[in-house]
Amino acid sequence: MSDLLDLRPRTRWLGRPHEHFAELASTNDRALAWARAGAPHGAMVSADRQTAGRGRLGRAWASPAAGDLYVSVILRPPQGPALGALALAVGAGLREGLARWTPQVALKWPNDVLLAGRKVAGVLCEARWVGDLPELVVGFGVNVGRTLFDPELAARATSLALALPSPPPRAAVLSGLLAALEPILCDFFAGGFAAVRARYEPHCVTLGARVSVEVPGGTGEREPARALGLDPDGALLVAPLDGGPARRVESGDVWLEAGDQREE
Ligand code: BTN
Repeated sequence: MSDLLDLRPRTRWLGRPHEHFAELASTNDRALAWARAGAPHGAMVSADRQTAGRGRLGRAWASPAAGDLYVSVILRPPQGPALGALALAVGAGLREGLARWTPQVALKWPNDVLLAGRKVAGVLCEARWVGDLPELVVGFGVNVGRTLFDPELAARATSLALALPSPPPRAAVLSGLLAALEPILCDFFAGGFAAVRARYEPHCVTLGARVSVEVPGGTGEREPARALGLDPDGALLVAPLDGGPARRVESGDVWLEAGDQREE
């Protein structure tokens, strides 16, 4: 029996009601369908394994049954602040939750959570409007128990099982993450990115680092730059190293140049 079947979240509303599946194509797909059918604010879907897990920018999210977390929550915030920085707020909440188990956890703009410099978790937000109100699905994957990664991921990814001497049980990790996420989501929905910025910025290894960013226009060309900071809406400000004007990066890929990131 899955350890997530009788999860008891220590939250007021996040993670309730909860549906758990041994296998799904994608917890985000199931949550989107459940949201359309009327699932309430806070409802959560989890799975032991995904057959078509999705990441950002149309990428696949490898999702074997190896003791990792594949989770999506449905959020129905009130009309209010811009939601563009939601993935940053969720990343900050995941970092705070994981920091209970290890201090080596950091953020890479926009939505990666790093452990000892390697990716341990990612966030995928999807939304639609129902009249004037947003209906959001926030999916997150956390590498908890996995000890083997595909060769193309192995140098960049890690898990709690690989990085910690005694990794915590998966259900305890999920309970801790929900407890950390609930207050940060409340703050974000009430005050936007400004209300959670101080919990994101100090932990973000991208800020101040040399990076390369994809040049707009879809050619795939990368431009070396310095990450200067964040705009009030969470967009990244970068200064090209060739001296061109600083510009905003709202989404897309930003690579850290090796050896030039801040340590936590
Ligand atoms: C990324 O870093 O690119 C985001 C990865 C998000 C993966 C999670 S796993 C649970 C949920 N279901 C999906 O299909 N994707 C998200």
